[in-house]
Amino acid sequence: MSKNIAVLAGDGIGQEVMPQALKVLDAIQKKFSFSLQYHQGLIGGAAYDEFGEHFPQATKALCQQCDGILLGSVGGPINEAHLPKWKNCEVNALLALRKLFELSTNLRPVRMYTGLEASSPLRLERLIDVDILFVRELVGDIYFGEHKRFIEAGKRVATDQAYYDETQIITVARQAFDAAKLRGHKVTSVDKANVLDTSKLWREVLMEVGRDYPDVELNHMLVDNCAMQLLLNPSQFDVIVTANLFGDILSDLASAIPGSLGLLPSASLNLKGFGLYEPSGGSAPDIAGKNIANPIAQILSSAMMLRYSFAQEQAANAIEQAVNRSLQAGYCTQDIYVEGRQCLGTEEMTEKIIEEINNPSLG
Ligand code: IPM
Ligand code: MN
Repeated sequence: MSKNIAVLAGDGIGQEVMPQALKVLDAIQKKFSFSLQYHQGLIGGAAYDEFGEHFPQATKALCQQCDGILLGSVGGPINEAHLPKWKNCEVNALLALRKLFELSTNLRPVRMYTGLEASSPLRLERLIDVDILFVRELVGDIYFGEHKRFIEAGKRVATDQAYYDETQIITVARQAFDAAKLRGHKVTSVDKANVLDTSKLWREVLMEVGRDYPDVELNHMLVDNCAMQLLLNPSQFDVIVTANLFGDILSDLASAIPGSLGLLPSASLNLKGFGLYEPSGGSAPDIAGKNIANPIAQILSSAMMLRYSFAQEQAANAIEQAVNRSLQAGYCTQDIYVEGRQCLGTEEMTEKIIEEINNPSLG
């Protein structure tokens, strides 16, 4: 196998964690005898500096020629939001990428790592067996409906339209049920069907699609209750499928459970299996450039790329196992540091993971 990857490091810690993921991919391709070609492109503030645009034509063309996209993060410091460089950076770059490639489904796994319990804000007994896959719809809802600002009766008014058609919901529902068949056979669909028409349609369609999956249990949960349940009893969940905005909020909430956003990868897929792979967290400008960012989310995102776009399940597993082993050995970065663990820099943590990959006893 030989594949071309568009590598878009972007802004902030993206610049530091991306090279770590590439080092891990280098080690893994040697071990599993396949070849990956990296093609670097600019996105976000980095692209703005060069082209005056957050998602320039050159980067679009590069992504279109590649077999997958590995993204770092985009966006700059909040206190500079008034500068054109950062204004609408995330919308112009990220949402444009999602739309251009019709990346309709976002997978965000959240699991607990053995040994990191003390880094979690939750009590130990709530952490047992936490392993959740968020399946978030990514190109519909209030994100992509009409956004408007106007003056009415002398007052400033703003509206954002939430929009779903049934095909969009069927697409993400199938992905959720298919994923559940490979895991715990349970789908929790999260909505606000007591109020919103988009949610009523969502629930109807989920029940219809669910009939094709008799071996998967389907539950419905209101989004406010789900937020509470994620803290009270997170191990009740297997696959959570939900709309774009609810998925954005709930997946950040759940990401606190393992102790740090820096551990959480994501995959955004279209119907052809083409994907964009990126950490769930942002560019973290406050810690950028100090060799302290956690590289694990980026490294695990590259594992998801091997699994979902290139069907290299064994190689993906090997990366995940190596991360697991290095954490269990007591190594960590500062975001998940607690007494008794050994705190390493971004590069040094990556070296520990690569040592595990090269360990003959692994996968
Ligand atoms: C995410 C981010 C984006 C989103 C923002 C940056 C547009 O928060 O990927 O979760 O809301 O989808
Ligand atoms: Mn988000």
